[in-house]
Formats: sequence, C-alpha cells, structure tokens
Amino acid sequence: MQAKLHLDTDFHSGEIDPRIFSGFAEHLGRCIYEGIYDPGSPLADGEGFRIDVLEAIAKLRMPLMRYPGGNFVSAYDWVDGVGARSERPRRLDYAWRSVESNQFGTDEFMRWCAKLGTEAMMAINLGTKGSAEAGALLEYCNLPAGTYWADRRVANGSPEPYKVKTWCLGNEMDGPWQAGHVPAEVYAQRADQAAKLMRGLDRSIELIACGSSGRGMATYLNYDRVTLEYCWNDIHYVSAHRYSENHRNDTGWFLAEGVEIERVIEDYAGLFDYVRGLKRSNKRIYLSFDEWNVWYKAKEMDGNWTEAPHLIEEVYNLEDALVCAQYLNAFIRRADVVKIACIAQVVNVIAPLLTTKDGLLVQSTFYPFALMAEHAQGRSLRTVLESPTYKAGERGETPVLDVSASIKEDGTLAVFIVNRSQTDAANLTVSIADVKATAIGDVKQLSGTDPKAANTWEQPNLLGLVPGTASVTGNGDITVTIPALGFVALTAATAKR
Ligand code: AHR
Repeated sequence: MQAKLHLDTDFHSGEIDPRIFSGFAEHLGRCIYEGIYDPGSPLADGEGFRIDVLEAIAKLRMPLMRYPGGNFVSAYDWVDGVGARSERPRRLDYAWRSVESNQFGTDEFMRWCAKLGTEAMMAINLGTKGSAEAGALLEYCNLPAGTYWADRRVANGSPEPYKVKTWCLGNEMDGPWQAGHVPAEVYAQRADQAAKLMRGLDRSIELIACGSSGRGMATYLNYDRVTLEYCWNDIHYVSAHRYSENHRNDTGWFLAEGVEIERVIEDYAGLFDYVRGLKRSNKRIYLSFDEWNVWYKAKEMDGNWTEAPHLIEEVYNLEDALVCAQYLNAFIRRADVVKIACIAQVVNVIAPLLTTKDGLLVQSTFYPFALMAEHAQGRSLRTVLESPTYKAGERGETPVLDVSASIKEDGTLAVFIVNRSQTDAANLTVSIADVKATAIGDVKQLSGTDPKAANTWEQPNLLGLVPGTASVTGNGDITVTIPALGFVALTAATAKR
C-alpha cells in the first residue's frame, strides 16, 4: 500500500504544548496505594514511593500530574490528608466504595511530583464542598507563611509554597454519578465563585472548568456552553474526557477512533469560537483533555469498603496502543486547541504500568506515549495525507493511516504514523515543500499480527519497540514503512531546499 504525506514547515497549527503529555493519579483502587506509595515494598524508597514506578513514569516525560481525582475528589476533604500520619482519619470513599487511609495526601503528592520532576495539577472538591475549602487548599499550597493554612503547610515540613499553577474546578460535574452533581447553571455559579475567590488569592493560577464527561452525555456541549458563558472571564480551559471502547470486538471499527477523537476537539473549537463571538471577546479558551484512554474491559468499580482494592486494572493490547497513539496524534494536530491532556491514569488503574509488591509490568500503551512525548516538540505541522481508505463499519470510509508531524527550531522533523490496516504494510513518502530531509534520526515501531496481543506477567516483553525502516530519497523526501497494525515514530534532520 502506498501513501503520501505533504508537509510545509510554514503551514502549522502552532507550538505543541508539552502539557499534552501529562498524567493523572487518583485515589482509586491501587493507583496511589501499591502503585505510587507502597512502603511495604522492597522497591520503595525511604518515603515509601515506588522507585521502579517513578523511573518508569519519568520516561513518559509528563509535565503535569492531575490529582487527587477524578470522582474521588468530589467527596474528598483535603484536610484529612495532611499533618501527622497517625492522626489522619480513615474515611469512607463514596466514589469507589473503598476505605481511604489518608496516609498519602497533598504533601506526599508534592514530594512525589518533585522526585518525578513534574508539576502538580490540583483538582478541588466542588461536589460536597465549595469555594471556602478550595481557598484554604490554595492558601495551603501557594501562599507564603504568615496565615493559618500556609503556616500549617510550614508546620507539616514545607516552608516554601508549592506554587501550583493549574487547578481543576471540580470533576465531571455533568455526571449523575458524581457526588454533588448539579445542572450546568448551578455548577457554573459554584465554579465561578471558587474561581473568583481563588484568583483573588493568587492571580498567577490558571483554572479549568468542568466540561462534558463524554460525547454520549445528553448535555454534551450544552453543559460546557452554559459554564463557559457564565465563567468566561475567570477560567482558562474547559475540560473534556473520553474513554474508548471496543465492546463490539471489531478491530477495524475500533481503530477508526482517531476520527471520533478529532471530532470532539472540533466540537470544542467551534464552541469556544461561538462563545467568544457572543462575548465579543478577544480572549482564547483552550481545551484540557484531562482524562483520556481506552477503558472497557475492566469495569470492577466496587471496592467493597476495603483499602486499595483491585479496581479497573485494564490490560492493554496492541489495538489499544494504536488507539492511544491516535489520541496523541489528534492532540498534536490540534495544537491550536488542546493545551493540556492527561492520560488516565498512570499506574495500576487504566494505566500503562501495573505493579505487584515486587514487580512492574509495562503495557503496550506505554510505548507510543514515551516516543511521542520524547519527539513531538516545536511546531505542529499541518498534515495533507493521501492515504487509501477502508470501511470502518458505521464510521464509514476511513484513511488507513493516521499521522501527525512536528518540527523543532533546530530543524528536527518528527512524524508519527498509525497503520490501521490489519493485513497490509504501508509505504509512506513524506515530502516537505520548503525543506529537504538530510538524515534519518531515530525510527522505532510497535506492531504485531494479533491486535489482541498484550504483555502479561508471564510474557512481559511480547510487545515492545523495535527499530523501524526509513530512508531519505535523492530529492530529500523520506520513505518509511509502517507494518500492518503498526505505529512508527521517526525523526529526521532537515535543511532548507
Ligand atoms: O479515571 C477513572 C474515572 O473516570 C474518574 O474518576 C472519573 O473522572 C471518570 O469518570
């Protein structure tokens, strides 16, 4: 199969925000306890943090880590998680019907982020609590010593403020499953009150309002519109969430997910422009796609009131990894709209990593993320793709390839390609109008013949990265082969034509 990708370094959709490669860690199942914090493990450091998990997540280069939820945050009292561990209360967690020991809280999370080299992205409880508690948490995190909550932080061992810049105004408040779920009109008022109070305390912070928890919601885009209209002056981003599924077990249909992901981004781009027009405003609001992943196989959500239960520990296969690569391709292509995106989540819970007390399993989805986070830098190039198509069920004619491309200041080009064909390799020619490729840098691929193949504890290296095949032609184009059911990331040096 032959395909062609046309690029021009002057045709771009802006700088790629590195924060599209961010993560999410929730008090859910074994994400925090036994994933991030596991003092009983031989692999934990002196603070109880899993060293192997820290090292693996570091390879994903995540600039932000969203915390502490998710649904968990909407009934969480952050005060329970600070101070002497022996005095922290054990609480019922209503979201996941689990017991929360509170042995890991805000200060532990900040120390873990510092070790990882990432910044915290904090979510506040706008379900069962409100602006007063949010203001107290902001004071605890960001204000200098001298007042009650800032002094509590100092007393708890952190003299310097944490300077958390990015704050989520609640979580999925459109969802009836959410503690404190309310209609958009009520949420908008709650969010705006919290936003005004928080920005009054710290003008440097940026705020993300809840949008829709999925495109299937009856209130999709309307919840977002009402919130956006009400909070326009005080927020910076609207949040979108999406989890992909293949219940019908149709690989061709599933691999067309990229088309749907892009539709969601387009929907939001249209909404932002619409409200901007209504407001006669010059302000730009951006999308924070702060929960995304494949999630449909592991749906155990009842912790039966135990600590760190095994909940939603999805096992990821090859087709899942190809869908994850398409999420990232879409975020890169729409660098003009998407500024933050968080894979949900980072360890054990719908995550690229699974742990046992003394082991770590790297899942298929880890690999495209690691490669793209490493290489997708600089400008996002507009892609004009000539690709054969295939019938993806009711999703219709779909290009066999899904691509994104970026170029750095130093001329390093990166191209990321998913081949949706289950049978045919693709030979792609990449032609850049104004520059020629001079040398291939790194070419790596993930592929296989079985879309359901997955790494397991018994076969942990069934799926992994191997060198790919690419070369520079006489006229400075690039040719690259993408195996069937494959993902390729390549870099190349370029020079002006
Ligand atoms: O990531 C798992 C859950 O999915 C989150 O808690 C919630 O926000 C979403 O519904």
